[in-house]
Amino acid sequence: MHAVKPKSRSSALIVMGFLWMLGQIWPATALAKEPVSFKEDIFPIIQIRCPECHLPAGEGYKKSGLDLRSYEGLMKGTKFGPVVVPGDAFTSNLNVLIEGRASKEIQMPQHMKKLTSCDLDLFRRWVNQGAKNN
Ligand code: HEC
Repeated sequence: MHAVKPKSRSSALIVMGFLWMLGQIWPATALAKEPVSFKEDIFPIIQIRCPECHLPAGEGYKKSGLDLRSYEGLMKGTKFGPVVVPGDAFTSNLNVLIEGRASKEIQMPQHMKKLTSCDLDLFRRWVNQGAKNN
């Protein structure tokens, strides 16, 4: 029996590590290009998680003016201006708030369970793909 030499064992580990990394990156980049639909992917999430506060009678609407009953309402934004910057999820307030990148106090949905990481990923990709009414 030959013992595996430490050197070849470590290069095998490097190769395995590299393959593992490829496995992590490859599906993520393939997925990022997959088109996200407002009607099929985004709006159903909004309809479940947001209207109780973002209809005209709701607290979120009263405080911010954001009406989440339609694409037009979302794109119009708050009384202070748009919350979606098409093509830029990093600076879009919508993404900042649902991802909890602002203060916990204004994480959306406010004081409720955060959206799942899958949902957050869909919102991010939808905005980065141009926030279209598709
Ligand atoms: C339990 C109530 C509630 C729910 C549910 C809720 N919001 Fe809000 N939302 C608020 C309130 C209240 C404000 C105003 C916050 C403030 O200005 O203090 C607000 C403000 C906002 C703003 C604007 C913040 C700004 O001024 O820039 C965005 C964007 C927003 N909500 C997105 C969402 C989204 C998307 C959902 C669903 C995923 C959601 N909210 C669900 C209560 C809620």
